[in-house]
Amino acid sequence: MGNLKDERKNSEWYAEARQKISYNIMLIGFMGAGKSTVSSLLRDLLQMEEVDTDRLIAKKEGMSIPQIFEKHGEEYFRQCESDTLLELQKQKRLIVSCGGGIVLRSENVEHMKKQGKVVLLTATPETTLARVKNSKERPILNNNMNTEFIAELMEKRREKYLAAADIIVATDDKSIVEICEELVSRLLEEK
Ligand code: S3P
Repeated sequence: MGNLKDERKNSEWYAEARQKISYNIMLIGFMGAGKSTVSSLLRDLLQMEEVDTDRLIAKKEGMSIPQIFEKHGEEYFRQCESDTLLELQKQKRLIVSCGGGIVLRSENVEHMKKQGKVVLLTATPETTLARVKNSKERPILNNNMNTEFIAELMEKRREKYLAAADIIVATDDKSIVEICEELVSRLLEEK
């Protein structure tokens, strides 16, 4: 994959993409959709800066996401997410990997749409479970590590994800390189 990545990174196609993509790319999607993984390859391919809302929040609060949930509760965390989005507003050419619940507040969706293109990554509940099952970093899934819970929560959020998205990329059974390529092609097709 190393070689393939370098080949693509140097290709004229990505060079063109780097010139054309002058806005922020907001990556949204359910936990385990691949936002962080896609974000770090995209950062290399498009030579953009990468930020992660969860990481920014954890740094600012001086504790992990599970600790924030435990100490202050979910509403407090959601406010941190909204504040973080606002702080990113003035920056350009950022790849923003957003926490899976960012679409829950309509004000967040408005901000994301103003900041750049919103890209929804999707995965089936089965793929999602396979990707997240060993993680202890997601308080919402603690004690709920099963496809039924994941499918139900995904369904509850589905409309919100779809309404926020400018572009949708399914990630099941695709390599990370394929996902990035599809994502960038779709961005280049967008007006
Ligand atoms: C959450 C998703 C997590 C994190 C928090 C809540 C959610 O981010 O923000 O645990 O409500 O879907 P990832 O989607 O990066 O796992």
